[in-house]
Amino acid sequence: MSMAPRPPIPSFLPDNAPFTPEQRAWLNGLFAGVFGLEGGVAPLSKQDVAKLLPGLLDAPDATPQEVDDSAPWHDPAMPLPDRMKLAEGRPLPRRMMAAMAQQDCGQCGYNCKDYADVLFARSEKRLNLCVPGGKDTARVLKQLYAELDTAKSAATADAAPAAKSAASEPGRSRDNPATATFLSRRRLNKDGSEKETWHVEFDIADSGLDYIVGDSFGIFPANDPALVDAVIAALAAPPDFPIGGRNLREVLTDSVSLSPAPDMLFQLMSYLTGGDRRQKAKALAAGQDPDGDAATLDVLAALQKFPAVRPDPEAFIEALDVLQPRVYSISSSLKCNLGRVSLTVDAVRYQVDKRTRFGVASTFLGGRINPGDKIKVYVQKAQHFALPADPNKPIIMIGPGTGIAPFRAFLQERLATRARGPNWLYFGHQRSDYDFFYEEELKEMRKSGHLTRLTLAWSRDADEKIYVQHRMRNDGRDIWAWLERGAHIYVCGDALRMAKDVERALIDVVAEHGKRSPEDAARFVAELKKNDRYQADVY
Ligand SMILES: Cc1cc2nc3c(=O)[nH]c(=O)nc-3n(C[C@H](O)[C@H](O)[C@H](O)COP(=O)(O)OP(=O)(O)OC[C@H]3O[C@@H](n4cnc5c(N)ncnc54)[C@H](O)[C@@H]3O)c2cc1C
Ligand SMILES: NC(=O)c1ccc[n+]([C@@H]2O[C@H](COP(=O)([O-])OP(=O)(O)OC[C@H]3O[C@@H](n4cnc5c(N)ncnc54)[C@H](OP(=O)(O)O)[C@@H]3O)[C@@H](O)[C@H]2O)c1
Repeated sequence: MSMAPRPPIPSFLPDNAPFTPEQRAWLNGLFAGVFGLEGGVAPLSKQDVAKLLPGLLDAPDATPQEVDDSAPWHDPAMPLPDRMKLAEGRPLPRRMMAAMAQQDCGQCGYNCKDYADVLFARSEKRLNLCVPGGKDTARVLKQLYAELDTAKSAATADAAPAAKSAASEPGRSRDNPATATFLSRRRLNKDGSEKETWHVEFDIADSGLDYIVGDSFGIFPANDPALVDAVIAALAAPPDFPIGGRNLREVLTDSVSLSPAPDMLFQLMSYLTGGDRRQKAKALAAGQDPDGDAATLDVLAALQKFPAVRPDPEAFIEALDVLQPRVYSISSSLKCNLGRVSLTVDAVRYQVDKRTRFGVASTFLGGRINPGDKIKVYVQKAQHFALPADPNKPIIMIGPGTGIAPFRAFLQERLATRARGPNWLYFGHQRSDYDFFYEEELKEMRKSGHLTRLTLAWSRDADEKIYVQHRMRNDGRDIWAWLERGAHIYVCGDALRMAKDVERALIDVVAEHGKRSPEDAARFVAELKKNDRYQADVY
């Protein structure tokens, strides 16, 4: 999975220092504050710690305890209540971690464990950064964060100044973006497809940015102006209402999320209405679902649900969440596209009652941004998603749908660097006639021999669903042979179902063709992961 580029607080403590995870987290936060440092430091020795905090190493509550390193809930397909159950009784940072979406997607600027640790250390105060976890995660984090107030150890953690979170060079983190120019978009599906997926390109030549294949690209989107207008109309407020040096329309366009209505908005509603409506607003603010529609209430739907309520525009904006950036796997290699980056974006659209809902960033890229427009962007470095260092190693890439993105980049990179290792791509989508992304390029690479094998899985060409993992099972003997030759395997795309099924298929292939028991095959695949020979970039 691609992960955040930097540990937010370095470990200042020696590995064998006898602290519980909580103590370790807040001490690291404290030392980060004391030294004003972000990274690249050697751990302190036990003697250093003893000098800085005399008596701490001997204190009774600092006696060695078993370090809670396992995180059995770290599975993006596991529902949040199950994750919280598994984490019951664990230390607070672990329960905070369990509340996150477990994708280690880095969109919050951390991976899940680090985000939990900085929340615990109070060096990060934003509780709503987990994009895939959304409102449910934010709600649980709020409850857990409240426990910090009563947690004994937290009293001292308060003294730790917030760790500086922006990377110094622009464009290297969401906290310090650079500017890129939008160049173009082209639809990858043919007319008749049920999908709308776009190849989009940005010019980053003047931004000082670079990237390597496997990295992701973060973009700051703007909300749909039609939705902004509808919200302003529902508020019955003037669009030019001044808010902090800007006006209401501007703030609604690029600063706040109009997607799921946050609890704070319902709380505000509850103050402004009475009787039954007040009870409903209070219930919604508490995460209940009095009318069975809570999951469908974006900001506009929330305003429409309480039509008589007209919040003050400033209080209304205060109650909304900040609009977050979104990240996309980079689908180009800089070596073949000097000063450019491309993405492969599926436009999210779905219907709720009579209104079509639009994914903010994907429809922004797929429709609202125009050539020449400049937007804020950043490169999110992948931590465990990269081509093998040895160019002669074979690679097997499994990327249905938009999952093809990083593999197009890998193929370009291996072409540009004349890497000799064989390349095998599994691509799949709904229909061969309409949804064969990058068909010409791939066929050309196949013809030239650069793409050693191309295996396709079309799920809606026939009555029977054919998915990439079905093809993998059929090819089991060859996959095993490639693995024996040291192949690295990659999967990219849907985290909830596809990636899990692909891993299951790989384990079955190893069991059958590597002649192992199911348990040994699972261990073999776990070992591949550990050695970075099985890597995932899933969302
Ligand atoms: C590391 C990483 C790499 C990624 N790479 C890519 C990529 O290469 N290409 C790509 O397209 N995306 C990619 N994504 C996903 C991308 O970041 C966005 O999450 C995606 O584009 C949706 O964002 P949005 O702002 O358009 O939608 P949002 O406004 O965030 O809306 C999406 C939300 O709408 C809801 N929703 C969606 N569909 C439905 C439905 N049918 N019914 C009800 N509710 C629904 C869900 O709650 C969903 O979370 C990647 C994500 C990560 C973390
Ligand atoms: N939350 C969801 O339910 C859901 C579902 C799909 C996609 N998404 C998200 O939508 C975004 C873009 O999706 P996308 O355009 O890349 O493609 P996609 O919608 O994920 O579909 C790509 C291909 O994968 C197939 N597929 C569906 N389930 C699969 C499984 N269990 N194993 C293997 N293949 C499977 C699809 O078939 P069929 O569609 O014909 O079954 C289709 O042929 C991603 O962010 C993804 O996570 C979410």
